[in-house]
Amino acid sequence: MAAESNAKLAGVFTFPQTSVQVHRMGYGAMQLSGPGIFGPPKDPQAAVAILREAIETGINHIDTSDFYGPHLTNQIIKEALHPYRKDLVIVTKLGARRPADKSWQKANSAQELTAGVHDNLKNLGVSALDIVNYRVVGPGHVPSEGSIAEQIHVLADLKKQGLIRQIGVSHVTANQIKEAQSITNIVCVQNHYNVVHRNDDALIDDLARQGIAYVPYFPLGGFTPLQSAVLSGVAKRLETTAHQVALAWLLQRSPNVLLIPGTSSLAHFRENVAAAQLKLSRQDLHELNRIGESH
Ligand SMILES: NC(=O)c1ccc[n+]([C@@H]2O[C@H](COP(=O)([O-])OP(=O)(O)OC[C@H]3O[C@@H](n4cnc5c(N)ncnc54)[C@H](OP(=O)(O)O)[C@@H]3O)[C@@H](O)[C@H]2O)c1
Repeated sequence: MAAESNAKLAGVFTFPQTSVQVHRMGYGAMQLSGPGIFGPPKDPQAAVAILREAIETGINHIDTSDFYGPHLTNQIIKEALHPYRKDLVIVTKLGARRPADKSWQKANSAQELTAGVHDNLKNLGVSALDIVNYRVVGPGHVPSEGSIAEQIHVLADLKKQGLIRQIGVSHVTANQIKEAQSITNIVCVQNHYNVVHRNDDALIDDLARQGIAYVPYFPLGGFTPLQSAVLSGVAKRLETTAHQVALAWLLQRSPNVLLIPGTSSLAHFRENVAAAQLKLSRQDLHELNRIGESH
C-alpha cells in the first residue's frame, strides 16, 4: 500500500493466516441508514459522497451489515462503489434480522445464516464476502456466555463453499472466541469498546498476542456520545476535538485495534480520518487511561 496513505491512515494491519491487509483507519457504514438504523438515509447524496471520499482517501476497510436499513446500507455501498477497488475489504455481519417494528431479532439458524450470506452477496453485488462476523444477539452491549459452535460451523461450511473468504465474531466473550477458533480461523473480533467502556482490556492484549484484529464498535460512544471532562480537557490542550482524541487513544491502545467510526456527515468523516495523525503524549495517555478505570 502507498506510503502516503499508510501514514495518513494509521498504518496497515494484516489479518492472521491471510494476505489480506487494511489500513487501521476504516469506516463504519451503520450511520448511513435512517433513524433507528432503519429505512433510507436522511441525505442519500451525502451517504454516497462519504463512501466515495473514503475510498479516495485510501480507506480500504468498510464495516456494514445487511441488517442496517435493512438491506439499504449495502445497496448504497454498491451504488457508490461498485465495481469495487481491488484492495477494498468489506466486512459484514450476520446473526440478526429487522422486522417492520424496527426491533433487532436473532437470525442464527443454519437456514437464516445461509440466507443472510446470499442477501449480502446480492445487495453488495459480489460473488464472495471478504469477511463475515457472526454477531451474537443478546440484550444490551455486554456479551454473555453460551455456545456459538453451531453457527460457526455453518459459516465455516459457507467458507468451504467459497461464499465467505474470512470469518470473525462480534459481541462475544473470550470463551466464545476460543470455541470459534477450535472450528475455524478467526481473523477479527468486533465488540463494544472505547476510552470510557473498557471491559475488553485483557481480551485486546490477548488477541494482539495472537495477531487477531480487535475492531471496537461504538468507538465514539455510539448512541450515547462519549462525555468526559478529561477527554475534553486533553482535546482543549491539543487544540483538537474530543472525538479525535478518543479515536487517537484507540489507535495508540494496541496495534491490533482497527477503527470503523460511524458518521453520516462528511465534515465528521474528515475530522475522524484526521485523528489518525494525532499523536498523544505519555501524559495525555496517562490522563485518558484513568477515565476507564473509574467506570
Ligand atoms: N458489531 C456490532 O454489534 C456493532 C454495533 C454497532 C456498530 N457497529 C459498527 O461500528 C461502527 C461504529 O459504531 P457507531 O457508528 O454505532 O458509533 P460511533 O462511531 O461510536 O459513533 C457514531 C455517532 O457519533 C457521531 N459522530 C461521528 N463522528 C463524529 C464527530 N467527528 N463529531 C461529532 N459526532 C460524531 C455520529 O453522528 P453523525 O452521523 O452526525 O456524525 C453518530 O451519532 C458502525 O458504523 C457499525 O459499522 C457494530
